[in-house]
Amino acid sequence: MREYKALINNEFIDNGQWVEILNPTTLDVAGKVSALKEEDVNKAYKAARDAQPQWEAKTLLERIAILKKFRDEILKNKDELAQIMAEEIAKGVKEALNEVIRTVEIIDYTFEEVKRLDPLAMTGEGMGARNKLGIFSRVAKGVVCAISPFNYPFNLALAKIIPALVTGNTVVFKPATAGSLVGAYMGKLAVDANFPKGIFNIVTGRGRDIGDIITSNPEINMISFTGSVNIGKQIRKQGSSTDLVLELGGKDPALVLDDKNLEKYADEIIAGAFGYSGQRCTAIKRVLVSDKIADKLVPLLKTRVEALKVGSPFDNANITPVIDEKSADFIQGLIDDAKAKNATIVYGDKKEKNLMWPSLVDHVTVDMKLAWEEPFGPVLPIIRINDVDKMIEIANQSEFGLQASVFCQDLSTAIKVAKKIETGTVNLNSRPQRGPDCFPFLGIKDSGEGVQGIRESLISMTRYKGIVINY
Ligand code: NAP
Ligand code: G3H
Repeated sequence: MREYKALINNEFIDNGQWVEILNPTTLDVAGKVSALKEEDVNKAYKAARDAQPQWEAKTLLERIAILKKFRDEILKNKDELAQIMAEEIAKGVKEALNEVIRTVEIIDYTFEEVKRLDPLAMTGEGMGARNKLGIFSRVAKGVVCAISPFNYPFNLALAKIIPALVTGNTVVFKPATAGSLVGAYMGKLAVDANFPKGIFNIVTGRGRDIGDIITSNPEINMISFTGSVNIGKQIRKQGSSTDLVLELGGKDPALVLDDKNLEKYADEIIAGAFGYSGQRCTAIKRVLVSDKIADKLVPLLKTRVEALKVGSPFDNANITPVIDEKSADFIQGLIDDAKAKNATIVYGDKKEKNLMWPSLVDHVTVDMKLAWEEPFGPVLPIIRINDVDKMIEIANQSEFGLQASVFCQDLSTAIKVAKKIETGTVNLNSRPQRGPDCFPFLGIKDSGEGVQGIRESLISMTRYKGIVINY
């Protein structure tokens, strides 16, 4: 059994308290991490605050050199990291390895991009002040609190931690409990990379026990959070004057407007809906399509859903157990509600504990929960609507606004529809996705606040510092 301790000021903390992490595939204990208390969390923030000025005082190239050693440790440990993720979040081993490699690519790109955060130099010309020259550099905000979700426990953690550190911030990192084995393992990598004391602290423990303590510490200058709308809203309510970036849930619609390339559309929709068993914020979570096209599309989707392999992450099955039994029951509840209201189960509707077969549900209507709620699991509802304006209306009625897809070969129509859809991004003729990671990534409405992405994260974790020369 794995046992990883929290990291504060480069020391592994053993306060005698532990949280057990279940393996979603076997439902046995995969390992345990420290369960920190308020005093431990406060120590982590003190360490981060104390370390910050010296860390920021290093040159950018000195900080990059230290972080590069950490990046090298990741590569050395890539198979172990993938193995841990397969054990604790049931992500297929290959997919978990891809997550690690993708993260290294983000880190490398970040090291290049940060060099282009050039200062802005301005004169007062035209504003009645010729004798002023302002130089506005981007400087660290201070102490960043980074909180990650279970579904990308490595990638979405480091997509916050690296831009924070490279720009001279120090970090207090709270991994999701399912995901905290890989989260806490980063402590070992940081120590092996000789991180200076206090720049990177890992606080483990259940969000319901220490979440509020972690997000309300007065030392925090910025919170970068990825997770559910509920917790995101709680953090927003707690408010204070802390800067926030929130990346929250989604109910991404796919609007299918023609039948000119249905095989390709079906491939994209299935990959979009069922990747990592639908546990992606950007998963396609509803298809909006006319009756006429649906009659051709649904059989194509069915063939593909039937072909998905259901099983273990260690066999790289397409569909693996969802994170826990509570989530499986919630997803099943959405399917049951749709069935009770006369939706058609085309495939699936089968579950053993938290292993759910992929479900394709046709004739879903707007009175069903499945039309609106985020299942975060392997179920795809088909909503039949014959009028494009009505499709756009239903796409926009959602409280979510992360991403959408429009499938249509006529680019002019596709762009006109895309412009009317209220989401952060609309993908034409492909599934929604966060990547390429150099793109800005954002949700509007309840799906988020602020922007992620490589350059955008560097910007959100820094602020302008102006120095004005009067001559
Ligand atoms: P979650 O339950 O909201 O948890 C997210 C993180 O918040 C975890 O680290 C969790 O710790 C922590 N947390 C729990 N209670 C807290 C509190 N009171 N204060 C501070 N932190 C607290 O979300 P999840 O189940 O891990 O992830 C799934 C959700 O994330 C879905 O809604 C998905 O759409 C969304 N998501 C969005 C994006 C995006 O970029 N838009 C990306 C990935 C996922 P514990 O695990 O210990 O509770
Ligand atoms: O779960 C939310 C992630 O940000 C989605 O990332 O589109 O690369 O799967 P992805």
